[in-house]
Amino acid sequence: MTAQRIAIVTGAARGIGAGVAERLAKDNVAVAVIDLDEAACKPVVERIEAAGGRAIAIGADVADETAVENAVERVVEELGAPTVLVNNAGIIRDNLLFKMTVSDWDAVMGVHLRGAFLLSRACQKHMVDAGFGRIINLSSTSALGNRGQANYSAAKAGVQGFTKTLALELGRFGITANAIAPGFIETEMTHATAERMGLDFEEFKAYGVKDIPVGRVGLPADIAAAVAFFASEEAGFVSGQVLYVAGGPKA
Ligand code: NAI
Repeated sequence: MTAQRIAIVTGAARGIGAGVAERLAKDNVAVAVIDLDEAACKPVVERIEAAGGRAIAIGADVADETAVENAVERVVEELGAPTVLVNNAGIIRDNLLFKMTVSDWDAVMGVHLRGAFLLSRACQKHMVDAGFGRIINLSSTSALGNRGQANYSAAKAGVQGFTKTLALELGRFGITANAIAPGFIETEMTHATAERMGLDFEEFKAYGVKDIPVGRVGLPADIAAAVAFFASEEAGFVSGQVLYVAGGPKA
């Protein structure tokens, strides 16, 4: 049996990240649950431990270079060298272009792009040393364009280019890089979107479902299943891909 792998999942205190952390733990991966507030990560760690898994909670802002370096060091000391990285932390600061502020633009770029870059750079040496690595970045169907999300769609399209470049640079070291582009997933982020649009969540959901061929919205577990595949040993020949997990075709 292979030794237990160590994963970092960012933005894992809730939503998709929490679902991914719990799924990887179930697949015998030790997980560093990273989010802005360490205390908020604790319930996820407790759930993983209660199910027999191994996890630690770390508070760090993924857009902060020193915080990221320190977080990865803590992972190495407390769990071991990370060879699976899921760049999931994300924020939305939606507005139509003419109302979008520079700080809303910068904040979104900071978390999605700078964050994925800083984590990937800090983890790659551990993956190179191990001759094995799995980098999985969260993009979005918004990468194809979405009204009110000039900042977010640009960042999520950027994540796809970033992923493909990592695949090219790191493939020779046994490291794959793939992106997952979710459609409508029920989390606090989509609840916030409904609120911003002045819609009741059930109303917002019904409106979204009309355009989803499988006839339902997604759940964090739907994304976690795709992450589990990309993170697996057997996915070593799949790299530089963008997988739309949206209940129907997108491209
Ligand atoms: P969420 O808002 O429920 O959770 C995001 C988590 O990221 C939060 O716990 C938040 O504290 C954390 N976070 C934010 N900024 C951070 C920072 N600077 N450093 C560390 N952690 C930070 O969002 P959700 O829905 O779980 O989204 C997860 C990822 O999936 C995001 O990248 C999002 O853009 C993406 N996504 C979500 C979709 C959806 O429908 N919910 C659709 C497509 C993509």
